[in-house]
Amino acid sequence: MNASPISHPINVEQAVRQRYSEASQAKVDALCCPIEYDRQYLKAIPQEVLERDYGCGDPSRFLRVGERVLDLGSGAGKIAFVAAQIVGPDGRIIGIDMNDDMLALARKHQRAVGEAIGYHNVEFRKGRIQDLALDLEKLEAELKVYPIQNVDSFLTAEARADDLRVRQPLVPSESIDVVISNCVLNLVDSRAKAQLFREIFRVVRIGGRAVISDIVSDEPVPEEMQNDPDLWSGCISGALTEEQFLQAFLDAGFYGVRLQKWDPQPWRTVHGIEFRSVTVEAFKGKQGECFERNQAVIYKGPFKEVLDDDNHRMERGCRYAVCDKTFQLLQKEPYRDSFEFIQPRAEVPLEAAKPFDCDGKKIRHPRQTKGETYAATSSQNHCRDSGSCC
Ligand SMILES: C[S@@+](CC[C@H](N)C(=O)[O-])C[C@H]1O[C@@H](n2cnc3c(N)ncnc32)[C@H](O)[C@@H]1O
Repeated sequence: MNASPISHPINVEQAVRQRYSEASQAKVDALCCPIEYDRQYLKAIPQEVLERDYGCGDPSRFLRVGERVLDLGSGAGKIAFVAAQIVGPDGRIIGIDMNDDMLALARKHQRAVGEAIGYHNVEFRKGRIQDLALDLEKLEAELKVYPIQNVDSFLTAEARADDLRVRQPLVPSESIDVVISNCVLNLVDSRAKAQLFREIFRVVRIGGRAVISDIVSDEPVPEEMQNDPDLWSGCISGALTEEQFLQAFLDAGFYGVRLQKWDPQPWRTVHGIEFRSVTVEAFKGKQGECFERNQAVIYKGPFKEVLDDDNHRMERGCRYAVCDKTFQLLQKEPYRDSFEFIQPRAEVPLEAAKPFDCDGKKIRHPRQTKGETYAATSSQNHCRDSGSCC
């Protein structure tokens, strides 16, 4: 992240906890950013949940049937209950929140929503989203037995927390298909933001993704504003800039990061700084070794060239040598429609493949994919579009 995190004189987490405890008891208009949800999913959700909606986007519309979903900062549970219907009975939703009142509200309606939709695939867990390994309810139970009374018992409690993180993690590594969140990441303390993105990356399985709706700013938020507890808990002062927000996903190890939605109208403007809702999608799975299997890709356009996050530059229409991992990756979302894929005539088995140096750009000569001795002459053309070719 570009901006150096500042140390706040305010206790961000306390301000957020207090604000959302109040917001769980009665609707707070200042925290609402009107969203058009798909109405068919709202029928099963009780009014009390619907009106305590403090989201700013709708990441649930990017989910698919059967997915295991983690909702960060689930609040009263609206997005979790919508997501439950999209993923269906074979999918699963885990909502995480640190606020007891919000958790109580969501859990109060969990059974009724399950009965209305015909299956129960949602649960809510207590945790801080920047520390998804620590189960706060398990820690609370331990602290009842071994209360903190002095420095020694404080240090013992810290050790117990570490032990819980390892032995009984709240969200195990690589256990989630999609992490979603609706207007929560901005609320996390600046000093914990990088850790938050690393935690999101940790829990997503390889091949999974994150779809996050949040508030971003068009300019860095000045320190005075960051020290205002109301502006912070009101989803303003903790906002990253647009560039910082996208970069945070990349820094954590995600690839294919794209803006799925960017609201032209700011949600609020404070001292001339615009705060708007965006939805960002990011994928996990580019890590790993690179092997040469003589594959090639062609970037189809419409831009003259593209540059990926690992600095591979590809000009439109040229054949590029890529490693097997990149070849597989480009065939998936979000890239697949932008490329053509060329397999070699003689397959190189993965076991026999040599390491591929992924640095720099490499043109792939057609002879490398066809074979040096290839000399076929064909009398028949195959044109797929019309079925005839003369
Ligand atoms: C703006 S509300 C959004 C709630 C919900 N996503 C929605 O769309 O209505 C923020 C929620 O995130 C929770 N929250 C804020 N910071 C958190 C943190 N660091 N860890 C866990 N939950 C957090 C708050 O308790 C609150 O329920």
